[in-house]
Parts: sequence; C-alpha cells; structure tokens
Amino acid sequence: MNHPYPFINEVLITQTEIEARIARLGQGITRDYAGSDKLLLLGLLRGSVMFITDLMKNINLPLTMDFMSVSSYAGAETSGFVRIDSDHKTNIFGWDVILIDDIIDTGLTIYTVKKLLLDRQPRSLKVCTLLDKPERHKVEIPIDYCGFSIPDHFVVGYGLDIDEKGRHLPYIASVDLEKYRLYESSNAS
Ligand code: IMP
Ligand code: MG
Repeated sequence: MNHPYPFINEVLITQTEIEARIARLGQGITRDYAGSDKLLLLGLLRGSVMFITDLMKNINLPLTMDFMSVSSYAGAETSGFVRIDSDHKTNIFGWDVILIDDIIDTGLTIYTVKKLLLDRQPRSLKVCTLLDKPERHKVEIPIDYCGFSIPDHFVVGYGLDIDEKGRHLPYIASVDLEKYRLYESSNAS
C-alpha cells in the first residue's frame, strides 16, 4: 500500500475492519440506550472526530454531539493533571453521556475528565474508545465500549496523530519512530 508519509510502518487495522467494528459498537449503544431521550456523545478533540462521526451514523436513537478539548500536562504521567482548553457547551445535568476518545494509553486523561464530568451530574456516564493499550494503563478505568485493544505501539490514523500528522488516514498504522525523527529533521532544514 502507498502511504502519504514515509514513517508509516505497518497497517494494524484496515478501514474495512474499523468500519465493521464501529457498526457493531453503534448497534450495542442503540440497544443499551433504547428509551433514552437524552443521549449525548461527548468527544475529546481532536483525535475522536473521525470515530465519533462514524459511530453516530450507526446509532439509531435520538442523540446530540458535543466536544471538549483537553491537554495532558507535561508530567501528566505521574500527576494526571489535565488542562481543559475548551469545555463542552451542553449542560449535561440529567443526560446520558458517552465520553468518546481515540485511544486510552495511561488512562489518565479519561480518568481525570470523567471525575470532572461526574461533578456535573449526568444521569449516566460511560466511556467509549476506538483503541486501548491495556499494557500502558496507570489507573484503573472501566471501558464500556472499546473498538480494539492493541499492543504498545505508537499508532496514527483514523483521527490519531503524531504531531498533528496522520489523522486523515482511513486505517490504523504503526509509526516507525526512527523514520519519523529523520522525516522531521529533513523537513526542518
Ligand atoms: P492517556 O491520558 O495516557 O490515556 O492519553 C491518551 C491520549 O494520548 C490520547 O487521547 C492520544 O491523544 C494520545 N496517545 C496515546 N497513545 C497514542 C498513540 O499511539 N498515537 C496517537 N496518540 C496517542
Ligand atoms: Mg487525544
């Protein structure tokens, strides 16, 4: 396959596999939330965008979508401190909220955002992620809906990036970090 970047190592999950899995996740959510008239998909920018737009097409219920943008502080690996860059607009009090992210790595982002959202008293709060790296978890967080568990590789595509590159790829691919360094240094000069 021809990739738009030289640092793509290998395709781990194809577009067909992702679309099939997302369809199943959507069916599961449709079943689990049947009867809910206040379902909110709350995506974390920017990584969850491609996932959330595909997922919502597979949910056959009334729903709304909102986003928030957070960044993990340097040192977040130990502190778990997450800064909110842009908050959601919907008042989530009494809503069934599904928090959506692209990937759970250490889990600290979701852990922190979840605590914050619970203070705002949604009717329910669940977590949905396209990818999960179980080997990397530092905190225990229940993941209610997970697309795929993957090994500890840095990946791009389907919304996920490396320094903002690779989000548009319609598949999940691992990055050759050595080739990425070379690519970056040749672009800088
Ligand atoms: P956590 O707080 O360690 O779980 O970090 C989650 C965030 O780290 C994700 O939302 C991604 O933005 C980023 N991240 C973690 N692993 C990867 C990866 O392999 N590729 C791209 N982004 C990643
Ligand atoms: Mg992210």
